[in-house]
Amino acid sequence: MGKVIAIANQKGGVGKTTTSVNLSASLAAMDKKVLLIDYDPQASTTTSLGIHRQSLKHTIEKVVIGDVQIKDAVFKIENTSLHMIPTTIELSHLGMKVRSTELDEMYILRQRIETIKNDYDYILIDCPPSLGFLALSALHASDSVLVPVQCQYLAIDGLTQLLNTVHTVQKNLKVNHYQLSIEGVLITMLDKRSKAGWQIVHELKEYFQDGVFETIITTNVAVQNAPTHGVSVLQYAPTSMASKLYKSLAKEIIKHNEPQTI
Ligand SMILES: Nc1ncnc2c1ncn2[C@@H]1O[C@H](COP(=O)(O)OP(=O)(O)OP(=O)(O)O)[C@@H](O)[C@H]1O
Ligand SMILES: [Mg+2]
Repeated sequence: MGKVIAIANQKGGVGKTTTSVNLSASLAAMDKKVLLIDYDPQASTTTSLGIHRQSLKHTIEKVVIGDVQIKDAVFKIENTSLHMIPTTIELSHLGMKVRSTELDEMYILRQRIETIKNDYDYILIDCPPSLGFLALSALHASDSVLVPVQCQYLAIDGLTQLLNTVHTVQKNLKVNHYQLSIEGVLITMLDKRSKAGWQIVHELKEYFQDGVFETIITTNVAVQNAPTHGVSVLQYAPTSMASKLYKSLAKEIIKHNEPQTI
């Protein structure tokens, strides 16, 4: 049974998409069966992996509203074993569309994913920068949430709101005998030369204790350039520090979820 992990933080530009793409690629490179779902109407994950929006017939939005079977919306990313379900801006209207149906709206994504959960080891969902319908339904569909936090001034600000939302979703899920755990807080974009940056790392570790991943993603130019080539940093710069860091994050996740395999 695959594990569904939402990559979420309502703050914009903290590295959700970058984490989704490169962590998925790293897990796939470690022979895990991985499906990445782009659940942000900005479609940054879709374009980062070289999928052209104009050519898209099957998207996650169509899956959720029931026009397309989830299996038929899965793309295999060229030259990798990674699978993904793309999106378009149309996803932003999803809330209105599903509200007019009979189904319990918050659980539709969960129901769709459940039909293919057995086909994967990990299913990652890249969430939009909000705590609106899309992010909430992604949390309702997930087994855990990974929270990327940009290593900068006021990093902790806003996290309380996110954690309160996670607690509310946990309570809702419990009623239906589901669980949502916190996979971990991932510190992103640390400038290793910055004293202030290390001070923020210290504060985050004090605040979240073991909840922070040991791997810290430092600022890296290859990470910024890879999406313009439509590939993950593992393909763009396989020997870069960034590739090593995302593989190290993948190892932490595998160790936590499948201790017997490492
Ligand atoms: N380790 C890194 N080093 C350098 N730049 C990075 C790194 N991680 C992310 N970035 C850059 O930071 C910007 C924001 O990253 P990203 O798009 O992953 O954030 P996001 O949380 O998904 O944003 P949004 O909230 O808009 O969805 C991008 O331009 C990305 O290339
Ligand atoms: Mg994003």
